[in-house]
Amino acid sequence: GFVIGTAVAGGGHHESQPYPDPFTSDEPYRAALAREFSSVSPENQMKWEYIHPERDRYNFAAADAIVDFARRNRQVVRGHTLLWHSQNPAWLEQGGFSKEELREILREHIFTVVGRYKGRIQQWDVANEIFDGEGNLRTQENIWIRELGPGIIADAFRWTREADPKAELFFNDYGVESINAKSDAYLALIKDLRAQGVRVDGFSAQAHLSMRYGFPADLADNLRRFSRLGLETAITELDVRMDLPESGTPTDEQLATQAEYYQRTLDACLSVRGCDSFTIWGFTDKYSWVPVFFPAEGAATVMWDDLTRKPAYFALQDSL
Ligand code: XIL
Repeated sequence: GFVIGTAVAGGGHHESQPYPDPFTSDEPYRAALAREFSSVSPENQMKWEYIHPERDRYNFAAADAIVDFARRNRQVVRGHTLLWHSQNPAWLEQGGFSKEELREILREHIFTVVGRYKGRIQQWDVANEIFDGEGNLRTQENIWIRELGPGIIADAFRWTREADPKAELFFNDYGVESINAKSDAYLALIKDLRAQGVRVDGFSAQAHLSMRYGFPADLADNLRRFSRLGLETAITELDVRMDLPESGTPTDEQLATQAEYYQRTLDACLSVRGCDSFTIWGFTDKYSWVPVFFPAEGAATVMWDDLTRKPAYFALQDSL
């Protein structure tokens, strides 16, 4: 049951993706996507700004194409994401809606999107990045929590469950690889929801790692705390960025360190019961979000632009 996944590039912020949609236009990319992976995650194509661009209009084309591709290639799909503070459309953020309207907008969105892919999504990131680094709910940035209060999180899980009873429902975040204030906050929230009778199936760490900060050595211990509660865990967005030298080409030493980070992340997941899904956030540097979002860092994926394999690719293969 263990799956290895990747994000499917496309649909991002314009600056981060100034190229034609790789999924439809890059044949070697598609071939590798079909060949190398048993799980896929739409990188942007199921986010609100993309799939729900106007209040009364959904845009399912790209998400449909990914879900169909996955079925043809016997891959599972991770749905990403339903309740988030980022990449929401302007009509939603600036809409001036009443509380009742907002609640209905979220409910309708969840039933529409989750319902459309019912039975085709293995894991849904129901709530993404709801806590800040101190482990406080993002009560200002997150429109849902700000306007409707934290109870909306439980509602989002209930509605998703109702719309697709077989999907596994997750909390997903970055900076929760280690035991820290943020991962503690998730542990407490999940226990609290459970006490209220709201079932949560999983907790996932994105794992956007940077070689600047070192490897989160307690990753397995952290995931195990969730596993002991009977939860699934997952690595959902792994990449390992580094400071690029003048030349733009990483040194052999950097590549070796990167390979070690990839391998340690996979080994940690494999060592935890219920960590059955391991996803990298894109497989080629050609389409990686990293250079756009983290100036001076890059080369974060397991393949070069021409899809040849880096040491990190072989390190993952070694662990499987
Ligand atoms: C990123 C995408 O990779 C970019 O293309 C987009 O422009 C911005 O979002 N955490 C998440 C992902 O949950 O959705 C983000 O993806 C990366 C951080």
